[in-house]
Amino acid sequence: MTTSTLVRELQPEIVRQPRSVERLVTGRPTSDGAGVKLTRVLTQPLQRRLDPFLMLDAFGSDKPDDYIAGFPDHPHRGFETITYMIAGRMRHRDSAGHEGLLENGGVQWMTAGRGVIHSEIPQQEHGMMEGFQLWLNLPARDKLCAPWYRDFAADELPRLRTGEGVEVTVIAGASHGVQGAVTRDTTAPLYLDLHLPAGARFVQSLPDAHNAFIYVYRGAVRVGEQEVPLQRMAILANAPGSDGVVIEAVEPSRVLLIAGRPLNEPIAQHGPFVMNTEQEIYQAVSDFREGRLGT
Ligand code: CO
Repeated sequence: MTTSTLVRELQPEIVRQPRSVERLVTGRPTSDGAGVKLTRVLTQPLQRRLDPFLMLDAFGSDKPDDYIAGFPDHPHRGFETITYMIAGRMRHRDSAGHEGLLENGGVQWMTAGRGVIHSEIPQQEHGMMEGFQLWLNLPARDKLCAPWYRDFAADELPRLRTGEGVEVTVIAGASHGVQGAVTRDTTAPLYLDLHLPAGARFVQSLPDAHNAFIYVYRGAVRVGEQEVPLQRMAILANAPGSDGVVIEAVEPSRVLLIAGRPLNEPIAQHGPFVMNTEQEIYQAVSDFREGRLGT
């Protein structure tokens, strides 16, 4: 599909009562895997507020020591991981037999379901490695579903360009009538990567009950009266009757816009296992220890 056909098909997003920013959040520097340095933007205390999202990590470094060790074999159960690689190359292998190379602009969507053991290992010894990993919860009835996996190269991801010149990659959900790479009925995730020229506005409708946030990874933007600086997450308020968000670029900017329908179910997390009850966590740990997870 060419850009011009996309432009003809664009449907306007109409927002009459835009959301305001409820609060700004600064990520917490941490490390994970075998010592990969990253910033945890969505941390555990925000899981309830941003239900159905459980975690957002941002990684970005041109120092190999910060990323080279990668994420050797580790398990997951009960949710989905979405890895978006802005720059760099990472190889994925998992116990369900999936293997893929994730690179420059590609997305890997993995539904851990009842369990996978996987590794994520950098395929570069120098240069920039930058990207994001988002964790999306599964509804209780799907937590033990069969694992699912899909890689999307950058040129396979649906894109659009608005009249104001905003370049939009639709990773999940739909924007301006363009369907994203992945849709999910229960959590209805929206995951957009927005590249905004200075001064451009981007409008996206959002149901008021869906939890939503943005993360600015280049430049700075404004949402209503609130400026959202570089490397900040802004949680968007769920005012009843609000119907979307308007994001205005203060300078050339890149922003993730993420939203979804809350599950309103209990969340029990132990590291890479996210279930509904402690009992299900004990089960996951013992399944992993006894070699029953991912087989
Ligand atoms: Co993992």
